[in-house]
Amino acid sequence: MDLIFATRNRHKFEEVREMASVYGIKLKMYRGPREEIQSDKLEEIAKHSAIVACTALKRPCFAEDAGLFVKALHGFPGPYSSYAFKTIGNDGLLKLMAGEGNRGAEFRSAIAYCEPGSRPVVFSGNVRGYIASARRGSGGFGFDPIFIPIGGDGRTFAEMSIDEKNKFSHRAKAFEKFLKWYIQRKKA
Ligand code: IMP
Repeated sequence: MDLIFATRNRHKFEEVREMASVYGIKLKMYRGPREEIQSDKLEEIAKHSAIVACTALKRPCFAEDAGLFVKALHGFPGPYSSYAFKTIGNDGLLKLMAGEGNRGAEFRSAIAYCEPGSRPVVFSGNVRGYIASARRGSGGFGFDPIFIPIGGDGRTFAEMSIDEKNKFSHRAKAFEKFLKWYIQRKKA
């Protein structure tokens, strides 16, 4: 069984590829044109990306949108995480958090699956954690070096292997929901 993930992000692809293979699903990456709508809802962004890719491919596929929501910053950068990462990056976010006692944060993911002629179906996942006091680790991508998940051993996502990150991550949770739904549907 093949399934297409419309993404230009190799890290995201690697994270979910392992999970899909456990269910006998071979994941393929579709690096379509990057055309992201501006919205404050991850679900809407993911849906739009899935529709664009599905229309171009004329085949079923899924897309994902994710973001880091920091409590002390009233949810910033949230849906603007990509822009915030490109502009201020991890160091900029750490500066915004300097002296801040409340380090609570959350990663959220929305995965939208679309078939030609149908409306997309969305699956969500989140992981709560803390913003570290400094960057740690060299794995992963984006804000991984500054995010410590609750329930872990204090390491940041960037200090974990993909398998370890998948035990906690927002993306793994959303993808697990999607996979279960997708497999049931194929059986029906
Ligand atoms: P995107 O729009 O879904 O590609 O995600 C927006 C931004 O959020 C990315 O550029 C990353 O900086 C950040 N981000 C999303 N998911 C993760 C993650 O799993 N780890 C670290 N950063 C992430």
